[in-house]
Amino acid sequence: MNTLKLSNRISSLTPSPIRKLATLAVTAEQQGKKVHKLNIGDPDIKSPEKFLDALKNWPKPQFGYAPSQGDAQFLSSLTDYYKKLGFDYLNKEDILTTWGGSEALILTLMSVANPGDEVITFEPYYTNYNSFANFAGVTITAVSTDIKNGFHFPPVKEVEKLINNKTKAILICNPNNPTGTVYTKEEVEELLKLCVKFNLFIIADEVYREFVYDGKKQISLLEYMDKYPDNIIICDSLSKRYSVCGLRLGALISKNKELLEKTLYYAQARLCAGTLDQYVAESLNHVEKEYFDNVISEYELRRNTLYEGLKNIGIEVTKPEGAFYIVAGLPVKNADDFCKWLVSEFSYNDETVLLAPAAGFYKTPGLGINQVRIAYVQNVEVLKKSLKVLEEALKLYKD
Ligand SMILES: Cc1ncc(COP(=O)(O)O)c(C=O)c1O
Repeated sequence: MNTLKLSNRISSLTPSPIRKLATLAVTAEQQGKKVHKLNIGDPDIKSPEKFLDALKNWPKPQFGYAPSQGDAQFLSSLTDYYKKLGFDYLNKEDILTTWGGSEALILTLMSVANPGDEVITFEPYYTNYNSFANFAGVTITAVSTDIKNGFHFPPVKEVEKLINNKTKAILICNPNNPTGTVYTKEEVEELLKLCVKFNLFIIADEVYREFVYDGKKQISLLEYMDKYPDNIIICDSLSKRYSVCGLRLGALISKNKELLEKTLYYAQARLCAGTLDQYVAESLNHVEKEYFDNVISEYELRRNTLYEGLKNIGIEVTKPEGAFYIVAGLPVKNADDFCKWLVSEFSYNDETVLLAPAAGFYKTPGLGINQVRIAYVQNVEVLKKSLKVLEEALKLYKD
């Protein structure tokens, strides 16, 4: 007799640390508290006016399917965007439009790895990589990075040690979520060389490409694509770049023709990315540089406010160089317990804060237990209030 039982695959999933405390926040709000939501990378920044205008001007009487690879005009706007960055060797054929960076990552893993294969990444890492790997039956192997050196990569021989005959790819996130690290040219090139030497794919999650501070520049793997067409896969997204997380648009980019050709078959099965979404985003290449300049200086201000504020209350932090997150080591034994207590039992002036406990961003059990990830996606005033809540909470909290 069969038993009614879910798959082993789904049974091994755990809740996302980014969203798992959200129901406690709802309860706190029902109790009349103001909850500052710094748990999730969903910014309060206004989307470009041009997108909002396009939304009002949808020209058709219905919403039909788009081509599976992506709407032609949307693909052109993407190649224009990459051209403006200096990558003029990217053509439409090198791009597959996806449902956000998330689908680009899922399709990449499905396309490059067999069930049981391994992909190396660096912990702490974007926690949803675990679920993406689960789709493909892939095991993530993690190289640890340390808050003490800004979460930069350890020497490349530490990575090489983990390569075995099941290893298919190295996955990097640059600028990094959750750490905010922006890797140096040397770090990026050493990993690339390693992948080329061992015939591995290098998957670059570059959804935070624009978010780099202090006048630094992100080293994109797009720069090396012409030279290493088969190894490099870029997973990109519009979500953060234009503050359009709900549009669900991203891209899988590669010069590996076989990969793109075959991955399109998956894309055909899921029909297309949103037709309206792509229409709205077609104007992305008309978004002025000024839009980004303003957005980046706003995030830099937020980064500074949060970093200085956390340091002033004695919390262990390293200054993020990019993205819009910071990993903070709290003076508590267990950040998971603290975050639950903070949102459900504590308030200061009827305000509390929702944070993401960071242990779920690590693969190695026991790492990150006292850490949280804080997203600076709210304005400076909210961040200052949140810092005050945190300071008062830590004075009162008993492990
Ligand atoms: C590092 C990273 N990669 C990918 C994604 C996926 O985002 P989306 O599917 O909205 O493009 C996110 C979202 O937060 C992220 O932080």
